[in-house]
Amino acid sequence: MSEPIDLDALPNDFLWGTATSAYQIEGAVAEDGRSPSIWDTFSHTPGKVDNDDHGDEACDHYHRWREDIALMKRLGTDAYRLSVAWPRIVPGGDGPVNARGLDFYDKLIDALLDEGITPSVTLYHWDLPQVLQDRGGWPERATAEHFAAYSAVVAERLGDRVQHWTTLNEPLCSAWIGHLEGRMAPGLTDLTAAVRASYHLLLGHGLATQAIRAAVPGAQVGIVNNLAHVEAASDRPEDIAAARRMDGHSNRWWLDPVHGRGFPADMLEVYGVELPERAGDLETMAQPLDWLGLNYYFPSTIADDATGPAPRARMVPRPGVHRTGMDWEVDAAGMEALLLRLTNEYGARKIYVTENGSAYPDVVRPDGTVDDPERTAYLEQHLAAVANAVRKGAPVAGYFAWSLLDNFEWAYGYDKRFGLVHVDYRTQTRTIKGSGHRYAGIIGDHRGRARRAA
Ligand code: FCB
Repeated sequence: MSEPIDLDALPNDFLWGTATSAYQIEGAVAEDGRSPSIWDTFSHTPGKVDNDDHGDEACDHYHRWREDIALMKRLGTDAYRLSVAWPRIVPGGDGPVNARGLDFYDKLIDALLDEGITPSVTLYHWDLPQVLQDRGGWPERATAEHFAAYSAVVAERLGDRVQHWTTLNEPLCSAWIGHLEGRMAPGLTDLTAAVRASYHLLLGHGLATQAIRAAVPGAQVGIVNNLAHVEAASDRPEDIAAARRMDGHSNRWWLDPVHGRGFPADMLEVYGVELPERAGDLETMAQPLDWLGLNYYFPSTIADDATGPAPRARMVPRPGVHRTGMDWEVDAAGMEALLLRLTNEYGARKIYVTENGSAYPDVVRPDGTVDDPERTAYLEQHLAAVANAVRKGAPVAGYFAWSLLDNFEWAYGYDKRFGLVHVDYRTQTRTIKGSGHRYAGIIGDHRGRARRAA
């Protein structure tokens, strides 16, 4: 059962949005000068993605963006988190800029603004140009520098209209899942490469933050992390120590350096990999941020995994907890706790929930509707948790539902549907699901209260 959402807790100017990312929705991978990214390579490597799905067409958003903006309007949202594809803007990874790539985002931004929808632009949502991977990718320092140069190009072009900027989406996934676990592009299982990648991602974040600020006066810059609400599976000392390591691996490794605290000493010991550090890097990583982004999906109950890979900790299922189609446990309390942790431990002055949502195997009924009560309940529970966190002092300024559309769910392909809007990939027909209608209702309700309160 869902608890009521305390909408009065939310600020009157709370942003209500949806989120997507370039490779997951755009398609048109060979159009207008785009070069392949590491996800084109990975998804076209047999066996890497369920059903050997790939993003060649995806939601065809590259051609259907007008229709998709109309859907955002129908949902009543006033913000949209999108990502820019680096291989469209600088197809060579560094060097010449592709004007046609910039033109696409330029007209998209204009159309959003015409509809009164605030764009929030992420510069890196995992689609590194393959040419840069061929030159070593994120384990190489030059990639961070190229990222900053590309970020400057985008900021200079869009910065007269875009105020909200994100450098990186979930660098944890790029580094740990992409270079250590091998379940995402570029598919490596190499701890040294992973630690070096993490370092250069955070360096790239700092350099890009400087570049955006230089190009866009008044830019609101943040970073988006998928943090874990970690609890030990038992009170055995081994499990408590494992939970502490997982907290370091998932949370502190990503938050501490950007808050000027350096890399956590306990984790340096766990990894045993020397950082590719140069004087001044830690200061670069720790640029003051305007806001922090939290992506939250599920809680993490952690047990010791003495013989496993770093951080020698594994997730254990909790019996009796409802699970989504991803097999992820549903527990909104973890999100409330993380919002409060960012506030109390890291002094966040502004937080956005930049992603939150659930996948279930939806079906379009004969009457053309999609009824998704489980996703609706997930949405309500997590919005209730946001409101609770705000009541307790967390400065949450907006919520972006993942996702606007069903889309290419990385290594899971198209079977995992996270959209508030259903996509029939055969016909590219879009259908707002029950959860989308409910979201529109919640947004309308909050706006009505905000108007009355004003
Ligand atoms: C996050 C990603 C996003 C989406 C959701 C389900 O980790 O940022 O692209 O795949 O998970």
